[in-house]
Amino acid sequence: MSMNINWYPGHMKKTRESIEKNLSMVDIVLELIDARIPYSSQNPIIDSIVKNKPRIIILNKSDLADNKANKLWQDYYKKKDIDTIFLDALSGKGVNELLKIAEKVTMDKQRSYENRGVISRPTRAMIIGIPNVGKSTLINTLSGRKGAKTGNKPGITRSNQWIKTKGKLELLDTPGILWPKFEEESVGLNLAFTGAIKDEILDIETLAFKLIETIMKYYPKLLNNRYSVEVDGSTPLEVMEKIGTRRGCIIRGGEIDYTKVSTIVLDEFRKGVIGNITLEFPEE
Ligand code: G4P
Repeated sequence: MSMNINWYPGHMKKTRESIEKNLSMVDIVLELIDARIPYSSQNPIIDSIVKNKPRIIILNKSDLADNKANKLWQDYYKKKDIDTIFLDALSGKGVNELLKIAEKVTMDKQRSYENRGVISRPTRAMIIGIPNVGKSTLINTLSGRKGAKTGNKPGITRSNQWIKTKGKLELLDTPGILWPKFEEESVGLNLAFTGAIKDEILDIETLAFKLIETIMKYYPKLLNNRYSVEVDGSTPLEVMEKIGTRRGCIIRGGEIDYTKVSTIVLDEFRKGVIGNITLEFPEE
């Protein structure tokens, strides 16, 4: 599967270098991933970029994810001794906890400033993650400003500025935009389901079919509730057709309008109206 034409080797190298340069200016990294797809939404070489810099993994869009699955992921990271936080960057739910953890994680550094008689300066942080994971939203929520969309085109360089937050944290206004994983097909699908990569890359009917198949596996009841269709004993294609019939996605001659059903299902999944859905779990 080929995806995300914006990333090519020279570009990755440049991105990596510019992120590494910015990293040298901060005390802590806030790594954003998508709580619905924690594995698929993590950049493959993030560890080698961030190295030993203190880091908090933020599972964003947790408002759209399944609470039970959130718990499983929380335990998973806890076992690995990784600081995590579940966030809804849009509403700000979880932000106070994030500021607290950031303070805890950088306490040693602050102490060493004080011991050297240096006036403690704010903890400096940068946000890092793949496109669409919520970096700009978090910057806006933390800073209390609205609408300023940070340059999402990888490779754009601007002068860096520090943004004050309501806590002791200062944020670099330029988030690190990393490329998504490319290799596995299931990862590509997860990224497409959640809108992290664009629909044009995969045809929308295949995408919706695969999404229905996945939801049927983990959350059949939600499909049943949302679309009043019988899921048990049906194939994904049959479920897709039933949803089409329910929603009046019919073209001339009584045929199902598959494109229309697909748009509805994908759109409703992304908005969370089918329900709280997580697409991958720690043990897999
Ligand atoms: P980025 O800078 O990492 O690229 O992501 P950005 O903040 O632009 O967020 C991408 C989309 O995700 C936005 O939707 C934003 O509102 C949404 N979003 C960010 N954080 C959260 C969250 O915690 N919960 C939910 N439910 N949504 C969140 P958008 O403006 O509609 O963009 P698009 O979906 O049309 O691309």
